[in-house]
Amino acid sequence: MCDATKIIKEQKAGYQKLIQPNRYLITSALPYANGLKHIGHLAGAYLPADIYVRYLKAQKRDVVFVCGSDEHGTAIPIQAMKEGTTAQAIIDKYHPIMEQNFKDLGIEFDIYHRTSAPLHHETAQEFFTALNNNGDLEIKETEQYYDEETKTFLADRFIKGTCPNCGYENAYGDQCEKCGRTLSPDELINPVSTLSGKPPIKKLTKHWYLPLNKHEDFLREWILKEHAKDWRGTVVGQCKSWIDGGLLPRAVTRDLDWGVKVPLPNEEGKVLYVWFDAPIGYVSATKQWAIDNNKDWKPYWQDKETKLVHFVGKDNIVFHCIIFPVMLKLHGYIVPENVPANEFMNLEGDKMSTSRGWSIEMDDYINDWIKKENGGSQLADSLRYYLTQIAPETKDSEFTWKGFQDANNSELGSIFGNFVNRAFVLMHKLCNGKVPPLHTEEMDSKDDILVKEIENGKSKIENLIENYKFRDALFEVIELARKGNKYMQEKEPWILAKNLEQNPDAQKLIDNCLHLCLQLCANLAILINPFLPFTAKKMLYMMKVVDKMLDWDNAGKIKLLSVGYSLRAPELLFRKIEDSEIAEQMEKLKIKSQKSKDKNVENLNAEKNSAGSEPTANSQLPTLIKPEIVYDDFAKLDIKVGTITAAEKVAKADKLLKLEVDLGFEKRTIISGIALHFTPEEIVGQQVTVVTNLAPRKLKGIESNGMILTAEDASGKLHLMQPQNKVDNGSGVS
Ligand code: MF3
Ligand code: ZN
Repeated sequence: MCDATKIIKEQKAGYQKLIQPNRYLITSALPYANGLKHIGHLAGAYLPADIYVRYLKAQKRDVVFVCGSDEHGTAIPIQAMKEGTTAQAIIDKYHPIMEQNFKDLGIEFDIYHRTSAPLHHETAQEFFTALNNNGDLEIKETEQYYDEETKTFLADRFIKGTCPNCGYENAYGDQCEKCGRTLSPDELINPVSTLSGKPPIKKLTKHWYLPLNKHEDFLREWILKEHAKDWRGTVVGQCKSWIDGGLLPRAVTRDLDWGVKVPLPNEEGKVLYVWFDAPIGYVSATKQWAIDNNKDWKPYWQDKETKLVHFVGKDNIVFHCIIFPVMLKLHGYIVPENVPANEFMNLEGDKMSTSRGWSIEMDDYINDWIKKENGGSQLADSLRYYLTQIAPETKDSEFTWKGFQDANNSELGSIFGNFVNRAFVLMHKLCNGKVPPLHTEEMDSKDDILVKEIENGKSKIENLIENYKFRDALFEVIELARKGNKYMQEKEPWILAKNLEQNPDAQKLIDNCLHLCLQLCANLAILINPFLPFTAKKMLYMMKVVDKMLDWDNAGKIKLLSVGYSLRAPELLFRKIEDSEIAEQMEKLKIKSQKSKDKNVENLNAEKNSAGSEPTANSQLPTLIKPEIVYDDFAKLDIKVGTITAAEKVAKADKLLKLEVDLGFEKRTIISGIALHFTPEEIVGQQVTVVTNLAPRKLKGIESNGMILTAEDASGKLHLMQPQNKVDNGSGVS
């Protein structure tokens, strides 16, 4: 454990009090400025970071929250090709939209920087130079394909040729899009450069490598020992398999012309690899923030008392837990204290994907829900609520529009909103619109219990947030509102009010009830603030109190609103979301995914008809290959052959089929997203390949116990993966 994080655990009042360091640097993964980002990204790296930061700021800790656009790498020039424009035009288009999208959703960075900024280029170059001068990098020469006409080295994606597997003539150097086979450029038959259309030659090229293999001991000690317990299991697990698989030197430069130039003489045409420069973006963003705010950036990166936390999605783990920390250590900077990476969020039974049109872009959500109405920020909070409630903190999760509607209507509306509303309405009706006094002599056990719940709520929520368990923390806030409702229901002040003439003393009971309910409202505002900042603001307005009331220290107390203080009439905190709005979104999603399917088929056809006419931008295209895994990762999968014995459509989910699969040793129910491709009739009796040890998952309320493997062809049509000949059910696949 580093000095900053020596968490002193004090057993106090039955909970652990955490004494925390006083300086924090919080980062969210820099999103590529190559297009709109979807709500899965939001849930993965931005919203949890924002919650954590808002909480820390309410604690008056010294926090800087940095982010910005990642404007290098191949993603940008590829998008430029797609949009028929330049890389610069792409980043200038998407950077401001992304910045505004985050603002509209209440993600409040201290700075949203960009890696095209000169300050970033300088910072990244200095970083490289420092490592290079110190002998921390290795230089290697390798042979790579080179286009003599355009005088450029060709990334795998810039080479095309005939697929050795299926004969498709326009296969890329890294993959055949027709048969899906992973390729290396050497396997292509008759390779040609996509830049000039000419066959490339092999030429020696020099690159700088970060010898990760030399830092295995450090990584083992730091991650697998020091942080084995306090980091998420999914994160430690991924790191372990990378480290156990053996780390190799990794090239940190590329032959490309889009990026940060390698800061050495006579090295034209070489840039820093995007994954080398982008995380340094956190440093340059901190520097820019310091300039803007007249502060010193250095302690945030160099002082061991600083707690650095990277919020990322699971596809970024290796970069933030292995590669960047090695760079940081070599440069004498602090390493992260935690990397609370999230798993993925699926959408309506399928993987979220912008390119397949199966996604909800933040921008779309903002336009459809927030901008459409006055006070639409409430709907930013509705989204923040649902995304936190289903946050993929320990495993993949699933966004459904119906779930969103339920979360908003039944939890935010009927529990939280309803409690606050009733407390205010009754206070106006029964206590002249003023905070009534608390007659302590009249307090009963129910009152005492509520007071205790308020006190305990604070520490519970605090502990959960400190441990990055945002979904549980939010649950506790709602729990507290639920308890408030129950308390009010038991006290029934409206009934007491009816008998005031016979029993004037009952006013004291009414006062007590509403006094406590209003103090609970004030507490709820503080506790909900990190999660739903717009709601907290609205509550402040209703209570006529200043922002300062939201200081975390105020939580757990029941003396926040002074007796006799007059409060405003309640405002609607959460409006109801109608079935028709949800149906509209479902329809929109279907149309969008269909459109992008049509487009992909169109592109493929266009490509077939224009062999030889090539993209013009000089850049790399992205590889469609997942990161390398070790054999042990593969061996974890249990794959068997089974026969589908029954199939039916799943109600209200047109992509899903419910299948009964006979695996020989047992029968399984599996929900599969293949209903658009197979009818129940045609699929029954088919043999299929099944991943049998996938954790069960509920889809539309039905538990799915496995996954059917399919292949997707270029038109998006799915095909079952079947054994070549019929085999016994339960036969293993390896
Ligand atoms: N742009 C990358 C992505 O979207 C994330 C970069 S994170 C950073 O996956 F650390 F490199 F900045
Ligand atoms: Zn092929």
